[in-house]
Amino acid sequence: MRATEPARNRSTLAHQVRYALRHPERIPAHARRAARDAWLRLRYRDHIAYYRAVMASDAARSTEAAVGHNPSREAWARIGRMQFDYLVRHGLQPHHRMLEIGCGNLRAGRLFIDYLDTGHYYGIDISPHILLAAQDTLAAGRLQPKLPYLVLADDLTFAFLPDAHFDVVHAHSVFSHSPPHVIEECFAHVGRILAPGGFFDFTFDRTEGAEHQVLREDFYYRTETLTALAARHGLDARFMDDWERLPHGQSKMRVTVAADRARTVGP
Ligand SMILES: C[S@@+](CC[C@H](N)C(=O)[O-])C[C@H]1O[C@@H](n2cnc3c(N)ncnc32)[C@H](O)[C@@H]1O
Repeated sequence: MRATEPARNRSTLAHQVRYALRHPERIPAHARRAARDAWLRLRYRDHIAYYRAVMASDAARSTEAAVGHNPSREAWARIGRMQFDYLVRHGLQPHHRMLEIGCGNLRAGRLFIDYLDTGHYYGIDISPHILLAAQDTLAAGRLQPKLPYLVLADDLTFAFLPDAHFDVVHAHSVFSHSPPHVIEECFAHVGRILAPGGFFDFTFDRTEGAEHQVLREDFYYRTETLTALAARHGLDARFMDDWERLPHGQSKMRVTVAADRARTVGP
């Protein structure tokens, strides 16, 4: 069950007018987002600084709303569980070392932390506000003994992380908020930190039409674009078809180090 229509271009005026006519009650919220976007664009030219400010503003309202579309606690828990169950079905094992990019307030992270061996979960995020909320989730779940790492990041070069360390890298609803250069930076560096046989799963907002963005917050990509970008950095990308059957609006891909690169670039 898909919640989105991949061919639709949400940035066009025609789409926005149609949407406004269908959902007049959402106009004030969108107008507030558009005004915030205009102000933050003026203040921050760099995308990470811009998006960090978006997260600060969202988190001030509700941290659950900041990491999901639906502000209810039930939806927050359900989407976390969906990520966890899927990853366990697709290879995550307790002894694995896992990096979660954009861990948010541990919607899924709390389940990964509980499942993985002590010290095997590493979460990074660009938002200090969200990382403080992540600590609250950790304490509420009594997960302190699992000693996860929760670290503030400024980019996706992973410069402070060791070579060939992570069996699993996971990014849910992060590339849906990332312009191409941020995704490219991640692809350029993730191969170095992946352990032999490791994989990187990420979700993205998929379009089958023209690639576009809504404000500077939401980005829509074609699958082929991301596959080609990954290939430029020695990575094989696979579309995860069975994720499409789940009630989630985004699509998922899995990236691994291409066999020829794995032979030539050792840890
Ligand atoms: C929609 S939330 C999803 C959080 C979490 N993955 C989840 O599923 O609950 C997106 C998160 O990614 C973080 N984020 C956005 N861009 C990022 C980047 N380039 N590097 C690291 N974190 C990023 C945001 O601060 C936010 O916490």
